[in-house]
Amino acid sequence: MKILASAFALAILPTLAIPAPPANAQDKPTWAFPVTDKEQPDIKPNTAPRSAAGSAKSYTRAQADNMFDIPDWYPEMYPKLPKIVANGNAPNVRACGSCHLPVGAGHDESAYVAALPAAYFIRQMNDYRSGARKGSGTMQQIGQAITDAEIKEAADYFASLKAPKWHRVVETDAVPKTYIGQGNKRLIHPDGGTEPIGNRIITVPEDEEIVLYRDPRKGFVSYVPKGALAKGAELVAGVPGKTVNCAICHGPDLKGVADIPPIAGRTATYTVRQLFMMKSGERAGPQAALMKQVVANLGLDDMLNIAAYTASLDP
Ligand code: HEC
Ligand code: HEC
Repeated sequence: MKILASAFALAILPTLAIPAPPANAQDKPTWAFPVTDKEQPDIKPNTAPRSAAGSAKSYTRAQADNMFDIPDWYPEMYPKLPKIVANGNAPNVRACGSCHLPVGAGHDESAYVAALPAAYFIRQMNDYRSGARKGSGTMQQIGQAITDAEIKEAADYFASLKAPKWHRVVETDAVPKTYIGQGNKRLIHPDGGTEPIGNRIITVPEDEEIVLYRDPRKGFVSYVPKGALAKGAELVAGVPGKTVNCAICHGPDLKGVADIPPIAGRTATYTVRQLFMMKSGERAGPQAALMKQVVANLGLDDMLNIAAYTASLDP
């Protein structure tokens, strides 16, 4: 029966869109889901306070990493920080501004939350709380512990921000050798050297010190395989049998419409993680259902190309 069924399937397949295999744990692209390497390069930690041009503040690495009192390098760059963003609510609600930064643009391993529609932001927090959205243990824990009033305060703060240009996308064959440092952060390996990019996106800080000290002035460069941008642009416009034109829902410039989030200028690896988890079912909130048909026939390379292209756009 099995043979017959697959022979039948083969006979009709050419007339149908060939579905990409389902996304499952085995094909999780490890480059998009960075996890701190067990073995770390031997770098002597700098314990001296750091100062920064144009800032009256100085912080040590330990102070910059305090998840209940975030570094406030440039108070004039952003509105007054609400308590939930600057201090969180110990012990279980860490300060949002620690990982997402006061400018909301975040790091490669977290998420770019500046200028997200408040209604969308609140829905995500509820999805983390219910477990419908997975992919970040921290966010699920925060979702459980945070109050509705705190969610609203954080949502309104980040929604009020201008979305900064945070990503530079470069097509290349070779990338610097990297490792995953503390906090799931991809950094350039101190030993130097390059390696083939393969089918990956490699995102590293424009300036490592700025990122390590959670200074909000500069973002990231994403290296992508040659040709990714053009292929991504084609997919985003909609390819029959593959996917739907993203602008239908995300708006003509992909900057979001009502409570549908912007996808332009966001972190490339983050976008890959979301497309992957929407396909695998790890991100399955009530509104994520609208993305089901969009991702159903996308393979990993398609997700990579889409993410490269959307990250390259102005946010
Ligand atoms: C320890 C780091 C960390 C802290 C602190 C943190 N987040 Fe997050 N946040 C993450 C990560 C990681 C993700 C998900 C990344 C992914 O899915 O790939 C995320 C995702 C989100 C998203 C989803 C964004 C989107 O576009 O859908 C929202 C909303 C969010 N966080 C809100 C908050 C709020 C509110 C706080 C403070 C109460 C907070 N976060 C604190 C790490 C953090
Ligand atoms: C039918 C409407 C629809 C279409 C078409 C659509 N999207 Fe979405 N998309 C949504 C909705 C609604 C959400 C928010 C889901 C939620 O609230 O969890 C979303 C969320 C996303 C997210 C997560 C954003 C974040 O901040 O976490 C990404 C990435 C995304 N879409 C990419 C795309 C791409 C790429 C395309 C085109 C190939 C596309 N979408 C087409 C409706 C759509």
